[in-house]
Parts: sequence; C-alpha cells; structure tokens
Amino acid sequence: MTATGLLDAIAGVGRDPRRGGYSRHGFDRAELELREWFTEEARRRDLAVRCDRNGNLWAWWGEPGADAVVTGSHLDSVPGGGAFDGPLGVVSALAAVDVLRENGFTPVRPFAVVVFAEEEGGRFGVPCLGSRLLSGAIDPDAARGLLDPGGVTFAEAAAEAGLDPARLGRDDEALSAIGTFVELHVEQGRGLIDLGAPVGVADSILAHGRWRFRFAGEGNHAGATLLGDRRDPVVPAAETVLAARIAAADVPGARATVGRLVPNPGGTNVIASTVDLWLDARAGDDASTRQVVAHVRAMASAAAEREGCELVVTEESYGDTVHFDTGLRDRVVSALGGVPVLPTGAGHDAGILAAHVPTAMLFVRNPTGVSHAPEEFAEADDCETGVSALATVLKGLAG
Ligand code: GLV
Ligand code: MN
Ligand code: MN
Repeated sequence: MTATGLLDAIAGVGRDPRRGGYSRHGFDRAELELREWFTEEARRRDLAVRCDRNGNLWAWWGEPGADAVVTGSHLDSVPGGGAFDGPLGVVSALAAVDVLRENGFTPVRPFAVVVFAEEEGGRFGVPCLGSRLLSGAIDPDAARGLLDPGGVTFAEAAAEAGLDPARLGRDDEALSAIGTFVELHVEQGRGLIDLGAPVGVADSILAHGRWRFRFAGEGNHAGATLLGDRRDPVVPAAETVLAARIAAADVPGARATVGRLVPNPGGTNVIASTVDLWLDARAGDDASTRQVVAHVRAMASAAAEREGCELVVTEESYGDTVHFDTGLRDRVVSALGGVPVLPTGAGHDAGILAAHVPTAMLFVRNPTGVSHAPEEFAEADDCETGVSALATVLKGLAG
C-alpha cells in the first residue's frame, strides 16, 4: 500500500469542524481510533504490536530486541492541524516495510515501527510527552498531574486508555531497545521548495519551549466600571502578545508566538478575572531563547503592574538545540545520493531521543510551506520518494 493510500484510509478521522483540518489529541476519541487503525495495519503485516508503559505503540517486525532500528512518528495533531504532520511518518514507515518485503529483505537487527503518544502537546500542553516519559525527560508525577482544557488529568486519560498511571515514567527497557531512530516527517517550512528537492535530511532543531503567563485582575462589569477603576488582565495580556513580537525581532533567527490566550470567564460584557496566555519561543541556542523569554517576561511584568494585575509565569516545557548525530546524518545523506541537509524550527520526538541514541530525520517537501494548519501538504510523488528513501535508509541500517 502506498503512503497516500494509507493516509486516505484515515482521512475521515478527527476532522476539525471549526478550522478544517484535523484535531486529534492524545487519547481522545480520534487518536484512539487512529491507534486502533495502526494496530490493525501492523497486524495485517504480521508486525506484533505492543503498547509500552507510556502509551507509545511498537510494531515489531520479527523478535523484539535491543539495539533495534526504529522508525515512526505520531498520530496526534495540533488543533485544526494538517493531515501530514505525524501521520506521514507513520504511514511511510508501514509503506517502507511493504517495500522492503517486496524486495525480499529481512532485517538482521531487531526492527520496529513506533507511534509516539501526545507529540504535539495539543491536549496536555507538553509536547513529545510519550518520548519524554520514556526517556526520563519529564518527571512522571508532573506528567500525571497535567490537565487538559476540560480538567482531565493525564493520569486519568492514560488510565481510560488502558495504561497504569503508576507505571508512567522512564522505561529503560524501551529506551535500550532503540539502537537507531529514524523519523520521516513532512517539512514544515519552505526549505525543500527553495532547494527544489523532494526529500532532505535534518541537521538541527531550534531550542524551544512553552511558558504559561497567568494574569490575575478583578472581574467586573464592562459598562459600570470606570476605566480608572479597572484591573483588567486582558490589557497586560494584549501587551504581552506585542512584546513577544518585539523581543523575538531583537534576536536574529528567533521566533515567539502567542497562539493561545484564554480569558476567564470570557464574556463580551465581562471584564475577565484572569487570563492564561501561552508563549512559544524558539531560537538558535539556549541563551538566545532565554533572552527572548526574559525580555517578554520583563515587558509583561511592567504591563501587569501598570494595570494592577498579578502575573505568574510557569515554564511548561523546554528543549535545548538539537544537533542530530553527524555520523548517522552523513550516512543517510550518502545512502540517498547526496540529498540536501537542512535545519528545522519544529520540535519532534526524534529531538528528544537524540539525547540518548543516534537519531536522524528525513523531510518530505511541502509545496505550501505551511504546517500546523489545514493547508499543510505533500504531493503523492514526493511521498513515494520519501517512502523509497526511508526504505533505503532502513535497509542500510538493519541489513
Ligand atoms: C511541533 O511540531 C512543534 O514544533 O511545536
Ligand atoms: Mn507538529
Ligand atoms: Mn510532527
């Protein structure tokens, strides 16, 4: 089956009724349906499926074992995301297994296709939660207590999905099973369009993190409260949105985004009591990223003080710059006959695992250059070039 044929089979799952695209979040109905679908597709290929302690799915070709060649990605999405971010890596891994089998190849090293849980952090706020838990990059108590927008804890959602919340956390058995990890992903910018290439290889990921800014003021009446009497938390929150743009513009290559701002209670004729706002900040290195966040924070504090509001800032996730293993990267580039190497501003499970095992990423050209939105795309021919590149790389590693 081709990658696009597999994507077509899940095209109806988890459509977002407001923005278009897909809303598939960790352990929600759509993501659970996709996990079922993956399990079925893996079984059809005689791959033995296991769910690890942290909710990551593993489909083993042959006997599970240490030092395996592992490939895969994630099935969850951002709210109203595209069809390719995550699923393309999963379907390409399955399609690559088909290609390798058709060519009579059997891996010598243990070999698995993996689906990581809650990569986007679209439900519980922390990205790459499955790979962070597995590798010990997040305290399991902190993970258990994460809340979704409806107040459900990650522990509750995990239990509902059949996991034992007490067993969440670093999984040395699963981690040591990974000898090499290769993740194929749709490109999320314009790099491959500009280079005129269908496939490329990643060399680095920007340092990035998420910070929650909670402004607390005084809820009151929109008509009866004089301007001078207000402590309206939306005002410093609005200034913080602008501060993010100003702070990022000061640091070459930095990006800062406020994509989520939630006034409580959120009524047209109501001065809000509190506002939660999330800052996503990224830059080329740790110091630059911290500089952007410190600058936003200083401007947000000053704005909060002017309005008589309190501000509490919480770092919800952070990852330093990732430089992928250069030996593996060069090996992949040469196996593919010299494809381009490019950096990315997007985070990935491969970036989390790169701190533990040699990891590589393949990117497939995205003709719109848009991602985390319904317009994200990859042409069928480029997807097939991606599958064939992935199969070549996996054959070289597992043979
Ligand atoms: C995930 O795609 C991210 O970069 O936030
Ligand atoms: Mn994404
Ligand atoms: Mn992704």
